[in-house]
Parts: sequence; structure tokens; C-alpha cells
Amino acid sequence: MRKVPDGQMMRPNRKTNGSGIQAPETRICVVMVGLPARGKSLIAQKVVRYLRWLSVDAKTFNVGQYRRTTTPNPSAEFFDTSNAEGERMRKAAAEAAVTDMIKWFDNGEGLVAILDATNSTKARRRWIQDRCDAANVQTMFVESKCDDEELVMSNIKEVKTTSPDYLGQDPEVAAQDFRKRIRNYEKVYETLDEDEADLTYCKLIDVGHQVIINKIQDYLQSRVVYYLMNLHIKPRSIWLSRHGESEYNLSGKIGGDANISERGQMYAKKLPEIVKQSAGDLELTVWTSTLKRTIQTSKYLPFEKLSWKALDELDSGVCDSLTYAEIEERYPADFKARDDDKYNYRYLGGESYRDVVIRLEPIIMELERSENILIVTHQAVLRCIYAYFMGVDQAKSPWMEVPLHTLIKLSPRAYGTQEERYSAKIPAVSTWRGKGSKAQHEDPGPGQGTVDIEVNGKPTK
Ligand code: ATP
Ligand code: F6P
Repeated sequence: MRKVPDGQMMRPNRKTNGSGIQAPETRICVVMVGLPARGKSLIAQKVVRYLRWLSVDAKTFNVGQYRRTTTPNPSAEFFDTSNAEGERMRKAAAEAAVTDMIKWFDNGEGLVAILDATNSTKARRRWIQDRCDAANVQTMFVESKCDDEELVMSNIKEVKTTSPDYLGQDPEVAAQDFRKRIRNYEKVYETLDEDEADLTYCKLIDVGHQVIINKIQDYLQSRVVYYLMNLHIKPRSIWLSRHGESEYNLSGKIGGDANISERGQMYAKKLPEIVKQSAGDLELTVWTSTLKRTIQTSKYLPFEKLSWKALDELDSGVCDSLTYAEIEERYPADFKARDDDKYNYRYLGGESYRDVVIRLEPIIMELERSENILIVTHQAVLRCIYAYFMGVDQAKSPWMEVPLHTLIKLSPRAYGTQEERYSAKIPAVSTWRGKGSKAQHEDPGPGQGTVDIEVNGKPTK
């Protein structure tokens, strides 16, 4: 490995468009299209979370929220197009959202905005297109079309009856009113078609069973389309575990390809039981890294296993196999630089957290396509995957505590992810390190390993 003197070792890796490649910055407005209860807000939120995870600044502008400032609890009649006052107020809300969005672009606050509304007529879409053209913002329309009445009704029950629009109302009455609201939209709804062949669009039919794309223009747009094509809404969970405690963990060394310790073995043997407790009889698929410690940890799991190089631990380059104290002694400037900006700091001859996120992107895509997956991986990689699902920001994610011998279950829900943690109650050293510390096994504070099951941070036993 080439040795570079201290001070030349900080290799900033600048913000990119998510590809890891610097590219001219295009600004895109993703315009959602579709009748109510077709998953537009859910799709918008997921796209924003995905882009932010890839370091692309993105934000949703939800027209419903603007409308609620003047009409917080409208009944279905408000959405009848023959209601002139309703029409005027809805147009004003759309106007306010678009104006704020353009300001947001002009202030240089981000590259991708999602305009979340029904945008269900050709006239409304043309108006948005014209506003964006004038502001030099590209538009990309994303329509969710779904005629499955049963699915729509279950969507209404799942998310609409608890909407702030129906605060304090009987859920049955709310569901019926929402159904009427949809009928009003149906009277004027125009799906994207040949008349709009000049527009850039992606039309998702029946939750992506069919996808029609038109005039997709650049890298970022095609990333978004590819992401949308991989989404599904079947109920499922993702289980995450670090490998069992390793020989390197015991000695406080980072990286390497060590075997698991005796206590790590105990965890490997107990893991099938904990998984059964959490997943019942579900058939899971296990993904590991290519390193011995994850393969050894998954040995007793009675499921199909796949090893991914992309799940290998963050490469610590010249610091591989050193303890934090040794790194501080040999590379003091680097040690400090990493603490100053842990997400962006790239080890000499190795990787940064930002690099890990980029190599994990295909894993995230595959996870979105899949159903029940258990991933046995490493501290830094697990932090990055967790950050994607939980929307943890970049400054915080590299400092999160992810204890050994703990199974994490993440279950995506309509507007968020539910988390459960199962402790194996098998002692292990701590590999967590606070800013500035070079302790071999630092105590991360109270809480670790003290509960059997936690749901979203709250003990249940
Ligand atoms: P509104 O116009 O009232 O804001 P919306 O289209 O934004 O409605 P959401 O609030 O996102 O709808 O609805 C979420 C529900 O839609 C969830 O129950 C989710 O499972 C479901 N869903 C997600 N994606 C799709 C899809 N592509 N087609 C139909 N339903 C979907
Ligand atoms: O110590 C265990 C380990 O997985 C190392 O192999 C790796 O370098 C480190 O954790 C990543 O954690 P951090 O980014 O906090 O140093």
C-alpha cells in the first residue's frame, strides 16, 4: 500500500448526484399524478428518503398540507368541480405549493422536488409544466393508476380514515366520505396518454405490474424510474444482525477477516431461535457478506443463503487490523479528520461511509424488490442500511449504536418503518466509539442488552 504523509491523507469525496460521479446539476420536479388513495404520498416519501440517502437533496411539497391551512376538514363536496369556491381554493393551494417549490430551487436548497397532489387533469399538468419551464426546472410526471376497488378501499381504511382531514370523526363515516371524494375526482380525471407524448413521464399501473415510461432524459430521472419499478406493497419485514462477536472485536482491532469468538459462536447457535421468535414460520432468505464472521454467524440458520461482496465491512485501508488507539498514534491527522466528518472521511486506500452507501445501492434496490430477507453484516454497513429505512441523516448515522448479539426487525408501513429489537442476552464487547475516544471497548451508556424486545425504542418486557 502506498504511504502518503500525514496531511495529504484527507481525500474529501464531494457531494455527487448519487452515482458517485460529478455531473452537471439538473433540477427536477417530480409531479405525482393520480386519483386519491393510489399511494402517491407514500411513493413521494420513499423517493425523497432514497434520494437523500444518496446525498441528493430532495423535498416533498404536499398540496394537501397547503389546502389544510385554509380548509382543514373539507367534506367530499369541497372536491366537486362544480363547486366554484372549492375549485378556487384548491387552485390557490396548488399555486402556493408551486411558488414555494420554485423558491426552494432558486435558493439552491435542493435538486429534486416532489409535487404531491392529484394533478389529475391535463390542464393542471400543462400549467405545472409551464411554471417549471419558466424556472428552468425539468418536470417528470409519475402517475399511479390503480382500478382495484378492493385495494383502494383497504388503502382508505389504512391511511385515510386517520388523516388530519377527518380528525375526531367516525372511521366508517370518514371512509364513505373519502370514497365520495374519489368519485368527484373521477369525473375529471384524465390519465397520462398520447396527447401528452411531449412530457417526461412514468406511469405505474396496478402497483407496478405494468410500467410505461416516456422521454426519460437523464441519469437521475432513470434512477428514480428504476427505483419506482422495484417498489411493492406486500407486507414484509427485513431482519438485520451484525455478525457474532469476533476475535478482532475482542482485541479492539478493526476490519480484517477474523473468526467469531466463543461468545460469537453462542450467538450463532442462538440466532435461529431468536429469528423464529420474531419471524414465526416465515421462509426467509439470508444475505451475508463474503467475510468469515458473517458466514459463521449464519451457519445454523435453516434458510437459503447468499453472500454479497457489497455487504463486506467498510474498508479501512491502511488502518485495517489496527485498534483505534494505534490509528490515533500512527495517523493522528486522519484520526481527527474522521471524527470531524465521519460520513465523508475516506480511509487512505479504503472507503468512507459515503462510499459504502454507493456500493449498497444495488442491495437496497434488491431489498425493495424482495420480501422477507435477513441480513447478517457488519457495523458500518448495517448503519447505512438502517439509515436508509429509518431516514437517519448523514451526520448521525456513522455514530449510531448497533450492538452485537441483537436482532433488528424493520417492517415498512404506509408512512414509516416499524422497528423491533431482540437481544440474545449473550454478552459481547462494545465496538461503539464516541467522538474523540480511543478506548478499546467504550461503554455506549445505559440500555445495551438490557431488554428482551424493544419496539421503536420502547421495551415491551
Ligand atoms: P391522496 O391523493 O389522498 O393524498 P395518495 O394517492 O397520496 O392519496 P397515499 O396516502 O400515499 O395515497 O396512500 C397510501 C396507501 O396506498 C397505502 O395503503 C399503500 O399501501 C398504498 N399504495 C402504495 N403504493 C400504491 C400503488 N402504486 N397503487 C395503489 N396503492 C398503493
Ligand atoms: O469494530 C468493528 C467494525 O466492524 C470494524 O471492522 C469497522 O472498521 C468499524 O466497526 C466501523 O465502525 P466505525 O465506523 O465506528 O469505526
